[in-house]
Amino acid sequence: MSNSSDKLIIFDTTLRDGEQSPGASMTKDEKIRIARALEKLRVDVIEAGFPIASQGDFEAVKAVAEAIQESTVCGLARTLKADIDRAGEAIKSANSGRIHTFIATSPMHMERKLRMTPDQVLEQAIGAVKQARRYTDNVEFSAEDAGRSELDFLCRIIEAVIDAGARTINIPDTVGYNLPEQFGETIRLLHERIPNADKAIFSVHCHNDLGLAVANSLSAVLNGARQVECTINGLGERAGNASLEEVVMAVRTRADVFGCETDLDTTQIVNCSRLVANITGFPVQPNKAIVGVNAFAHESGIHQDGVLKHRETYEIMRAEDVGWHANRMVLGKHSGRNAFRSRLESLGIHFDSEDALNQAFIRFKNLADKKHEIFDEDLQALMTETGQYDHNERVHLVAMRVVSETGKTPQANVTIKIDGVAHHIQAQGDGPVDAAYRAIESLVQSGADLKLYSVNNITSGTDSQGEVTVRLEKAGRLVNGQGADTDIVVASAKAYINGCNKLFDSTSKTHPQNAMI
Ligand code: KIV
Ligand code: ZN
Repeated sequence: MSNSSDKLIIFDTTLRDGEQSPGASMTKDEKIRIARALEKLRVDVIEAGFPIASQGDFEAVKAVAEAIQESTVCGLARTLKADIDRAGEAIKSANSGRIHTFIATSPMHMERKLRMTPDQVLEQAIGAVKQARRYTDNVEFSAEDAGRSELDFLCRIIEAVIDAGARTINIPDTVGYNLPEQFGETIRLLHERIPNADKAIFSVHCHNDLGLAVANSLSAVLNGARQVECTINGLGERAGNASLEEVVMAVRTRADVFGCETDLDTTQIVNCSRLVANITGFPVQPNKAIVGVNAFAHESGIHQDGVLKHRETYEIMRAEDVGWHANRMVLGKHSGRNAFRSRLESLGIHFDSEDALNQAFIRFKNLADKKHEIFDEDLQALMTETGQYDHNERVHLVAMRVVSETGKTPQANVTIKIDGVAHHIQAQGDGPVDAAYRAIESLVQSGADLKLYSVNNITSGTDSQGEVTVRLEKAGRLVNGQGADTDIVVASAKAYINGCNKLFDSTSKTHPQNAMI
């Protein structure tokens, strides 16, 4: 069945494996925003989280399952009854739900991590798939570390879980160890040797430790895999997962080789990429394929001349097909609420209430007073910020004044509200941002270490908003904070306060898999 189909299923795991990037933890509402954008991109399956990992993760998967109609919503579970019951509960209200259960199958993982024999692993896998089938027909089984597992054992366990009712079999290269030819050969051999292989779709899930996640995934597709697990911008554990945009555009651009296609609306790719970068605070490198700002920019005169004469001389894809330049300039200070709402809806952003729309609109008008032209990127940053104000966060920036003069020590006067009470303080620092951070820290007393501070311009031009990302660490917990403003010192203060709010939020999650060691 799997290798004869011409449809390639795209399984997006940005909200689960992507969230396992250090500091990329997302709130429930942020997950819903990304899930809606993924639905608009028409991905087939959205893996929304690991429901047993924490109450926050359970609620996020449940909320995504309730919000999404078109894509299948999936919850991850180990091969343990409690995990599967929790995942089953979380996806219960999905229009289409899937349980994805996994156990390690490599000799090293079985012996050293699980301390189980292969027979015990096999029995547990069969039991888990049967348990998952009580909740849904749509059950996926993953052989974790399949890339370093023995082929004979893989064949044995996969045959057994297909018999038990798994309809998707995922072959992860968990540690990114495989090479394209070898990984493709594994997929081919599994199809050849497993007698009931035709009863399941074979999927792959490749990590990017050697920079080969996309190449390995594509090699698997050439050898019969019909589902690829991937993430927007290649986000994910360690060096990340296969990048969705690269896999999808490779299959589309080289349809002559792959002989299969996805159902994706590729014009939504750039929008999803920006949204994920904005929410997680992981900026996209300029030369990143498909979604980097330079991906379609021609600098050299010879290239520019060639493209002007005949686009295909130097371009193998059209920028507009992945969503670059679509509706570039959108709104300004005279735009009304309806134009604002409809532009956001076209970005996949919906409002739960008129009040939420009004709040966002006020912030939009404030921004439009400072910035002449409001682009999609500005709207996305604004929505991330508006979301921050919705969530009963303990600390809010009220006002700040920073004085920086050549030859003088910069000084910041900051007023913030903590739990509704206004506090004011003045501090000095090595620069204006340092002065502002010292002032804020002396009031909030987070005790966090600043691990990363980065500023990016959201659009071009000197009136562009600066988007600041900070990474804070306290007691082994990492969070990212974001802030955007036309004044980068204000953006910096917002980012620091956002990070502190995440640290103070006891419901916010740690690295999902840490919760279960
Ligand atoms: O990398 C991996 O093996 C995973 C599994 C849970 C599918 O993320
Ligand atoms: Zn993974």
